Amino acid sequence: MNESTNQFLRPITLRRNDKGNLEIGGCDVVGLVQQYGTPLYVIDEKTLRNICVDYKKAFAKYDKVNMMFASKSLCTLATSLILAQEGFGFDVVSGGEIYTVYKSGADMNKVLFNGNNKSYDELALAIELGVGRISADNFLELDLLNEIAKSENKTVDILLRITPGIECHTHEYIQTGHLDSKFGFDLTQLDEAVDLVLNSYTNLKLHGLHAHIGSQIFETQVYHDEIEILVKEIARLDEKFGIKLDEINIGGGLGVKYTETDYPPSTYEIADVIIDSLQKSIKKYGIESPSLFIEPGRSIISTSGVTLYTIGSSKQVPKGRKYVAVDGGMADNPRPSMYQAKYFAEIANSKEEDTLQTVTIAGRFCESGDILIKDIALPQPSEGDILCVYNTGAYNYSMASNYNRVQKSQMVLVNNSKSDIIVNRETLEDLISHDVIPDRLK
Ligand code: LLP
Repeated sequence: MNESTNQFLRPITLRRNDKGNLEIGGCDVVGLVQQYGTPLYVIDEKTLRNICVDYKKAFAKYDKVNMMFASKSLCTLATSLILAQEGFGFDVVSGGEIYTVYKSGADMNKVLFNGNNKSYDELALAIELGVGRISADNFLELDLLNEIAKSENKTVDILLRITPGIECHTHEYIQTGHLDSKFGFDLTQLDEAVDLVLNSYTNLKLHGLHAHIGSQIFETQVYHDEIEILVKEIARLDEKFGIKLDEINIGGGLGVKYTETDYPPSTYEIADVIIDSLQKSIKKYGIESPSLFIEPGRSIISTSGVTLYTIGSSKQVPKGRKYVAVDGGMADNPRPSMYQAKYFAEIANSKEEDTLQTVTIAGRFCESGDILIKDIALPQPSEGDILCVYNTGAYNYSMASNYNRVQKSQMVLVNNSKSDIIVNRETLEDLISHDVIPDRLK
């Protein structure tokens, strides 16, 4: 079975060069840090395009596949443009993501709007900018959508998001009749929603069903079960309402390799399971083969991204841990403090001393929980060394904050020994640019 890029710990162009420094996209990491400073997000264009190709090859066996990149994992103009060039559409979840994807020049017809509490303004923006599909999540949204569509004299193309009763916790999953989830229609509510769309909402056109079962998934059986439920429901709705739904959206979720002990399946393995399950379910329930939508985020963008930090102070707790602090942390990567997520890192510059020391990488933010990596063996990290943390392309910049009023970091795109800024570092002026002092205080 072919390997795919989501199974790698490091970007595919990463190597140590003759100087003993790490190099990514042909750019010496020490040079990048001299030019741009730290913390610095780096995206390797080759790794990103490579995984897109993996996905396209893996799913080529099924002719009606629509790949939608989940923008929540990373949403910038340049990365959206690359994904659009690779033929991907986009799963978006806010007005901000819709606007960014639109401004990147992507085909809005290949955009799908998700979310459990989309506002009137966001729905109106989606309709105005020609978003191809809206995945309706609840009864209020159906009402709002129909109202907007009516006032614009348009028909809006929708899917209904359902809660299929499958929940993944990375290495285990549960299947229940109902699920305690804020997303989508419970299966017991689905018929009422379909009935409303067919009989009351004149300006909505229903194309299919949507579900998403989790993130950082390593199992394949869950996709099989999810697809079976979606196809079964489509067959059942046809029987009850005489409606031929021809789209199924199975969401995203494929995992990546954050540490040496993570073994995510490849895109090829996942595609085989998905297509095989789909074909079996189509036969079993006797429906026409539908268009398949997938919405991967993490598995597309994570491995292409690394974050570079400069090491500063350190502290040896007597008879305890050694803490080594970097110039970023929970504001540029909230995942370790939010989810106890684990990361792998290396010292990027050459080191004469190569005996390993186990240290804990602490962030710079005023919170004890701001620890990026607990207990990692590195060659004697000291002040001024550059730390390269791997697999930070997904859910790092997109979840970044200005905690402690620290400016958000810069992002560069590297390829063929060239580097280009794709997100500027925020300035001190940017930080106060939205603040207002009322006149009466002056
Ligand atoms: N589609 C829907 C409807 C989703 O809710 C999500 C993720 C995706 C697609 C993309 O899933 P992915 O392929 O990236 O696993 N902040 C968390 C992850 C939250 C994912 C939320 N939904 C983290 O950093 O792990």
